[in-house]
Amino acid sequence: TFHQRVFSGMQPTSTLHLGNYLGALTNWVAMQQTHECIYCVVDMHAITMWQDPADLKRAIREVTAAYVAAGIDTKKSIIFNQSQVSGHAELAWICNCVARLGWMNRMTQFKEKAGKDRENASLGLYAYPSLMAADILLYKATHVPVGEDQKQHLELTRDIAQKFNNDFATEIAERNLGTGDLGFFPLPEPMTQGPAPRVMSLRDGTKKMSKSDPSDYSRINLTDDAETIAQKVRKAKTDAEALPSEEKGLEGRPEAENLVGIYAGLEGVTKAQVLSQFGGGQFSGFKAALVDLAVAKLAPIAGEMRRLLAEPAHIDAILGNGAERAQAIAAPILADVKDIIGF
Ligand code: ADP
Ligand code: NA
Repeated sequence: TFHQRVFSGMQPTSTLHLGNYLGALTNWVAMQQTHECIYCVVDMHAITMWQDPADLKRAIREVTAAYVAAGIDTKKSIIFNQSQVSGHAELAWICNCVARLGWMNRMTQFKEKAGKDRENASLGLYAYPSLMAADILLYKATHVPVGEDQKQHLELTRDIAQKFNNDFATEIAERNLGTGDLGFFPLPEPMTQGPAPRVMSLRDGTKKMSKSDPSDYSRINLTDDAETIAQKVRKAKTDAEALPSEEKGLEGRPEAENLVGIYAGLEGVTKAQVLSQFGGGQFSGFKAALVDLAVAKLAPIAGEMRRLLAEPAHIDAILGNGAERAQAIAAPILADVKDIIGF
């Protein structure tokens, strides 16, 4: 069997929000107890769509600060920036040559992101899932926490790993580079996301909380101060009924369900537990409690991010150290891959 190693990443395209925190980061923090973890700031993925260079540079530091402030421990885990480890680009090319056009043509996220003007999308956006495969396989990662929208890409990663293992089975065996009959690359397993796998918009309970939503009141950013958090929670859309005392009373009430889910995620309890405390009460009282909880949990993260961002050299040092450690794992794996394929 393979050693349990987690790989995950986020694009430095904007400020992280409560969805990223409850859906991914809290889970990443928890996994440090049980797995070797590698967390990447994926700037090479970010440029598949146009990014202003100065904004990109700022966002790389900001996402790094968010990882650290949320509780990723750099003594234990690796935090690094994708473009600083050249093996991602090198292995991505090899993955491009293993992946089949037919597989790539099935990727639904490309169709969504490219939109109607597909002829004008970048080749990088089309190849994005193949780069993601390279990110994971470069470290022989065994577990990948992924949201709904990345599940299909992880399937593709498994297909690429499997095809590589098959296409080069002889060379892998000759060099004794296989792990039992599992092949050279492990087939990475998806891991379910954090305590709140889908945090919805505060303005519309049927839409995902997202960085691309034009309304700033739709999301709580990790950099929001206490007063901003309070305003956003108070303005959050709700219905006129009281909170139900059981979960089935949330059916057909997406805004209510979302706020209860956020409370549960922040407190680390179930929705049922939240309802046993607040069921029967009005939203005004619940929202006041949610403001207190959100401020208590998120304000220290925002404060720590501000402190870190005031010292960019320190953040750059974290990324430099992380890149060295990532490179140390990646280099021998990439050397084996090159030897296997005949480079
Ligand atoms: P990327 O394009 O880097 O995947 P996203 O902002 O879409 O950036 O997502 C980063 C991570 O945060 C992913 O793991 C994703 O599943 C998670 N995430 C994003 N939005 C939400 C949300 N509203 N609820 C739960 N998880 C979310
Ligand atoms: Na995403």
